[in-house]
Amino acid sequence: MADLCIHNSEVFLAVFHNKKDFLGMKKVGSLAYELLEMVEETLEPGITTMDINNLVHEKTLKAGAKSAPLGYKGFPASCCTSLNQVVCHGIPSANDVLKTGDIINVDVTPILNGYYGDTSRTFMVGGPNAVSTTARKIVQCAKEALDDGIEVVKKRPCFVHDIAWAITEKAKEYGFSVVYDFVGHGIGKVFHENPNIQHCYSMARRQPAIAIKRGMTFTIEPMINQGNHQTQLLDDGWTAETTDGGLSAQFEHTIGILPDGSVDVFTLP
Ligand code: MF3
Ligand code: CO
Ligand code: CO
Repeated sequence: MADLCIHNSEVFLAVFHNKKDFLGMKKVGSLAYELLEMVEETLEPGITTMDINNLVHEKTLKAGAKSAPLGYKGFPASCCTSLNQVVCHGIPSANDVLKTGDIINVDVTPILNGYYGDTSRTFMVGGPNAVSTTARKIVQCAKEALDDGIEVVKKRPCFVHDIAWAITEKAKEYGFSVVYDFVGHGIGKVFHENPNIQHCYSMARRQPAIAIKRGMTFTIEPMINQGNHQTQLLDDGWTAETTDGGLSAQFEHTIGILPDGSVDVFTLP
């Protein structure tokens, strides 16, 4: 007896962007980059995550832009600040004072002329020599994972699961795990749209294959955990932490495949 065994039969609708869109994405991406540069310059032991939020909020408004997180599905602040064991979506607070040796991810998303630019970095409070070896390694791993994920997109044909492959290989090299409860996403005139960019290969390979094509704009934002990949949501409904209390680090860029086929990282200068 014979039977059809089609698995990858889901129809996927991607949003494709034109030259005008790419200019808009570059402009807002540059602003997002500048926001993180400012955070990097200001960040020191003793400041609170609310201080960071206020700086981001004010500089965003000054640039004629708005902060996408503020009010997004009820999120109460202008950026996310995720400390140590927080995986993502930490809420800035005047009670959270940065200490030497902390690691903190700051995730910003300005909206300018209708376009979104989404980027984050994990900073080491007090500098690389002030944090534990593990903290330094996990930050380095998350950064290299993002860079490798972007490199993969430059060699096409490329599928979304190829990004996950590169990121997962990097995590394995360091002995860390890849979070799969939160993913990258299409972005443009909408904050979060198709396709989902899964960072964990064992999850990505179970989903319908999606080819990466010219005109697509999306984020890559791997979250790397020191221990297991699992996350738990706190009672505030936003803050996601590791379940084992281990550290977590993340880096994010918004990228696009231009009409000429080249890859642009919008959230770099
Ligand atoms: N910037 C986050 C991302 O990378 C989304 C934050 S949504 C918020 O997709 F509401 F938590 F701010
Ligand atoms: Co983000
Ligand atoms: Co994002």
